[in-house]
Amino acid sequence: GIDKTLDAAKGKKPEELLVMYKGVLYPSGMCSPETFQALDIMEVRKDDVFLVAYPKCGTNWVRHILNDLTSAVSKNKEEVPPTEHIQMLEFGVPGKFQKIKSFPSPRVFTTHLHYDNIPKAVFGTKAKVLVVFRNPKDAAVSYYHFYNKNPGLPNVSSWDEFFQKFMSGEVCWSSYFDHALAWNKHMDEENIMIITYEEMKENLLGRVKQIAEFLGFSLPEEKIQSIAENATFESMSNKSQETHGKFGSIFFRKGTVGDWKNLFTEAQSQEMDAKFEECLAGTKLGARLKY
Ligand code: A3P
Repeated sequence: GIDKTLDAAKGKKPEELLVMYKGVLYPSGMCSPETFQALDIMEVRKDDVFLVAYPKCGTNWVRHILNDLTSAVSKNKEEVPPTEHIQMLEFGVPGKFQKIKSFPSPRVFTTHLHYDNIPKAVFGTKAKVLVVFRNPKDAAVSYYHFYNKNPGLPNVSSWDEFFQKFMSGEVCWSSYFDHALAWNKHMDEENIMIITYEEMKENLLGRVKQIAEFLGFSLPEEKIQSIAENATFESMSNKSQETHGKFGSIFFRKGTVGDWKNLFTEAQSQEMDAKFEECLAGTKLGARLKY
């Protein structure tokens, strides 16, 4: 589990905390080449649900909603969802792929992987893929705090240092902008839906409804409402130890839009604006990620 992994990480040197696989950095406590290889040949069901998000864009938030939605439609699903090590495609031991074969449908999987590194079977089976994004400035600030609070990631000495790493893509799961560029090409495909952190903050109930519709679930209004109520920042952070173990609080920091203003200098803001323009100006995804 995650507690054990993070406890073990505390005794490690910073350079031991990361592993490089196919040119991308990952936390070594969570990811291994063996698991990546097993993932490549994972069996996908057409009613599997995949949640894809760049780190710190709202993965845990949407994962919680998806777990609640899928257990509401399936009688044989357990109340307590599988652990993060099981649900997160690239985490855990390779043997888990054998275990998940017996899980009841609809199964929920999450991943931070770049589009190109997601097993091709995911896109060839009509499985639904929900992609979550967040404006890059808030994602960077959230990631900075996470690097420093998470024993499984090396500490960074300053925000300035992390900002440069984020801009150049020298962070776990690589460049935010590469991820956005890749997804921008797949916005309109059947079975793919993009949602943003900001849209969820603006209207959580509406988004939960929209996700349920995308998945083809018809649920009573009261059920949708209670799922949305259980997914507020307050509700989720209050239960963080129950859901995420003793390190739970590091996943629920502030939960707001615009926190970047507390860390970005004017020069950094302009540098990121320029990069955003260069990558996403005039694109459909870019228009959704305005901050
Ligand atoms: P902050 O660090 O800005 O607070 P991920 O799950 O992808 O790691 O993303 C983590 C970010 O989502 C954190 O952002 C966290 O606080 C925020 N978050 C988690 N649950 C949330 C919720 N229910 N509502 C709003 N934000 C949430």
